[in-house]
This record gives sequence, C-alpha cells and structure tokens, in this order.
Amino acid sequence: MDKLIIQGSKKLKGEVEISGAKNAALPIIAASLLTSGFSTVNMVPDLKDVTTIGKLLTYLGAEFHYEKRKAFIHTEKIRTLEAPYDLVRTMRASILVLGPLLARFGKAKVSLPGGCAIGARPINLHLMGLEKMGADIKLESGYVIAKAKRLKGASIYLDIPSVTGTENLMMAAALAKGKTILENAAREPEVIDLANALITMGAKIQGAGESIIEIEGVDELKPIHYSIIPDRIEAGTFMTIAGITGSTILIKGCRMDHLDAPMMKLKEAGLVFEHVSDGIRVLGPSRPKSVDLKTRPYPGFPTDMQAQFMALMSIADRTSIIKETIFENRFMHVAELRRMGADITVEGGTATVRGIEKLKSAPLMATDLRASASLVVAALAAKGETTIHRLYHLKRGYEKMEEKLLRLGAEVRRVKE
Ligand code: EPU
Repeated sequence: MDKLIIQGSKKLKGEVEISGAKNAALPIIAASLLTSGFSTVNMVPDLKDVTTIGKLLTYLGAEFHYEKRKAFIHTEKIRTLEAPYDLVRTMRASILVLGPLLARFGKAKVSLPGGCAIGARPINLHLMGLEKMGADIKLESGYVIAKAKRLKGASIYLDIPSVTGTENLMMAAALAKGKTILENAAREPEVIDLANALITMGAKIQGAGESIIEIEGVDELKPIHYSIIPDRIEAGTFMTIAGITGSTILIKGCRMDHLDAPMMKLKEAGLVFEHVSDGIRVLGPSRPKSVDLKTRPYPGFPTDMQAQFMALMSIADRTSIIKETIFENRFMHVAELRRMGADITVEGGTATVRGIEKLKSAPLMATDLRASASLVVAALAAKGETTIHRLYHLKRGYEKMEEKLLRLGAEVRRVKE
C-alpha cells in the first residue's frame, strides 16, 4: 500500500492535460460485450478501475489488452456469463456487464454489488427496467440471475435518473426487439458518450443527454472504434486545486461545456477563468469566497466534485452550506478535513463549513475515491507536511495524479507503507 506525502502551501504553476473519463471508459468497454469481434477504445485512462473491468472481461472469456491509453478487446469467445463476487466487490461498475450479456446471450449471472463506503447504492432500477423488457430475474445467493430469450422494447420510467442504470438499460435495449423509451433517464455527459459509442456500433438511439431516450433495437451491432471524452471530474478537481492554492493553472483537453455548474460555483468562489486557444487558464483567488451548494444529477453540481469543493470552502472567508442529495454517506472526508483544523459540522445530508484561514497538516486516511481527491486538494494548501494513507483509492480514478502535480511544481512523493 502506498501513501502520498505532500508539502503544502506552495504556489503551483504550469499546465495539466486532462485524461479520458473513467465513467465513460467503463460502460463503453462493457458495451464491447454486445458484439462479437474486435473493438478498440481510445483515450482510456490508465486506472485501477480500467484494470478491473479488463480482468472481468478476461474472466468472461474475452481478450483484453491495454496499451498507451488504448483498450483492444476481442469479444468473440465468451466462456462464461457469470461476473463473480470477487471482481464485482472491488468495483461496483462491474454491474455494467449485466445488460450487454443478457441482451447478447439471453442469460447473465452477476454478483450483487452490495453497499459501499458512500451509500447503499441498490440496483433495483437496473433490474426493474430489465424485467419490463421481459427478463426473468432472480436473486440467489448474492447473485442476480437474469434470463430472456430476446429482450423486448418497453417503456421504462426511472424513479431516480441513475447513471449506470440508464447505461445498462440503454445497452440492453440496443439489441432488444422493438422500441424502448427510457423516461427520467440520466443526462450525464458519460451517458451521451456511451450512446454515441453505441450509435457508431449501429445502435439506433435518440435523445441521449435529455430526460427521454428512445432506443430502437437492432438485430446485431458492429464492434466499437471510439475515443472517449475527457474526464470532467478530473478537470474540476484541478480547478479546485488552483482555487485553494491561489495558483494559475492551464487546463488542457477538457470540455468546458461539461463543467457549467462546477465552473459557475468556482467563479462565485472567486476563481477566474480565461479561455485560451489550447485550454482554459484558471486563476485562484488569494482567499476563496464562501459559496453554498447542493449536489444534483447533471446538469446540476456533480456529487463527484462535492468533497473537493468542500476542501476549498474549508478556507473560505465565511460559512458555506453544502448539501449532498445523491448519496447518503458521502461526507467521509469531513472527519479527515477536521483533523486538519477545518470547522465543519454535519447534520443529515447537510454540511456547514465555517471557513478558517489556514489548514494544518496531519496524517490522513483516504476512504473513497473522491474523498481522497479532497484530501489531496486540502493538503496542497495546508501548512506543513501531510501524509495521505491508502492511496489506492485515488488510483482508481485519477491517472498519474502525482506526476501531474509534480509538473505543476507541487512537492509530492509516493512512499511504500
Ligand atoms: N439508485 C437507486 N437504485 C438504483 C440505482 C441508483 O436507488 O437502481 C440511487 C443510488 O443509491 C444513488 C442515486 O440513485 O443514491 C444515484 O446513483 P447512480 O445510479 O446514478 O450512481 P451510479 O450509476 O452507481 C455513477 C458514477 C458515480 C457517480 C454517480 C452519480 C459510474 C461508474 N459511477 O454511479 O461515480 O457518483 O453516478 O453521478 O459512472 C465516482 O466516480 O467517484 C463515482 C462514485
């Protein structure tokens, strides 16, 4: 297990290139299971979660090879339709193979993901949608067993616009007989990216990015050859880093149109954005202003940026109220930020953050991916040397974070525990 040691309070300077989006890469790689053939996916970030989905595909019998940000996938020979507990428990997004396997082979057995550090995260909406499409679903010994000769198009209303739920159902519907209408679908850019990848495979999908998605099923899909979008959460994280350290950072290769809500909030906090030909220059303020926020499904403020934004607010000029509405337990960074001196109280889904002048270093424990990112953001601004243990959480979702920070002039080093 590695730990990260950060010497804080340094002004950063330079540029950072944004990697491909983890949460687009995972469903698009899973979509390769919808077809028999050789797929290539470009701009795939080098992350632990990508290794895990690669392992899962290999376990199923596909060939998965990853090199230089490209995934090469052969899905002709599939030897089992079972996604085992050991792989699913290390990455919940493994549930994304359920829709494709069921649609292509008429059967799938996928371990139930169970809860995780940030919440219970049930998959009832995935299952309800597949049942509406004619699947017979049983839960046995911790596994979902789904069967359907051929899925049929259906009208499905999602009570919550679940991201992976929408993705699973969109993939399943792509090969179903007839038309599927997904209402109250997730509108995240990663959902649009998956739809675009499916369209290049021959799927007939309309409305991705809106609340109603219509999918006319086809008999067969072609392999994927597709480049995924940049990671908006990584870009937003580097913006908060510029904000908390009062630095100027040029962020290259991000899609600003995917970052409307976070950029609006960061502007309110005093950050300045300059559009330049090769990216966006972010200028941090001498001290952030306090801003209230509420996480919402896209296009609202992303829950995946809440922890990083809270780190920024911990040194803001007044009090900010941060409401988490997507996950019931996504405040685990609070206890660690408090150990750095932050003045934060939590009641239910609401955190009250009373800005202090300066955070102080402390030994910290990363608990989940975005909580880890928030600790890195905080440590970069803190006085003294901060050690962040359990770094593997960060490696699940941030490609070469340490190298990128070093290039910006940060004093960081990775040490084996
Ligand atoms: N929900 C249900 N039933 C379902 C599905 C979801 O009640 O069947 C609830 C969840 O418990 C949660 C809410 O709906 O309270 C939203 O969950 P959603 O299904 O949208 O989340 P997800 O698809 O499991 C994806 C991302 C997460 C991101 C969320 C929200 C991937 C692989 N994961 O998860 O990313 O936080 O959407 O935007 O796309 C991360 O990258 O750190 C991360 C956790």
